[in-house]
Amino acid sequence: METKNESRLICVEQKGDERGLLSVIEENKIVPFEIKRVFYIYKTLPDIRRGYHAHYKTRQALICVAGNCKILLDNAVSKRTVLLDSPDKMLILEPNDWHEMYDFSPNCVLLVLASHLYDAEDYIRDYEKFKEVYGG
Ligand code: TYD
Repeated sequence: METKNESRLICVEQKGDERGLLSVIEENKIVPFEIKRVFYIYKTLPDIRRGYHAHYKTRQALICVAGNCKILLDNAVSKRTVLLDSPDKMLILEPNDWHEMYDFSPNCVLLVLASHLYDAEDYIRDYEKFKEVYGG
């Protein structure tokens, strides 16, 4: 069985002044890995649920930089739901976190920082396979 780690929600510092707010994310600091890839999910249609996978290697940091959405997390032992509704909330996902993203607000922009380049072979898209790899 693969090693398991816990997902966690981190508060990103807001640097505020009379002009507004600014938040900073640097690799190996608040994000606990080197950032190899950045992508963002936006203009998601109503009632769409996406994700439905875990990984073998890739770690990710999710931030809703606009709007809000929910993330269902399943680490093969327990499930929980996280609401991302502010740009100062960052969810660290471990490879063993099966995740589903849903309830996207129309203005939602979900920014994802990833530890590895895109590799379709790093995805576990079959739930039974996920339980085989990380369950028990
Ligand atoms: P997909 O994995 O289906 O998104 P989600 O997990 O959010 O449901 O990705 C949609 C498409 O984008 C799919 O064809 C794969 C492609 N893609 C890349 O080419 N590079 C990437 O880094 C990501 C995340 C997806």
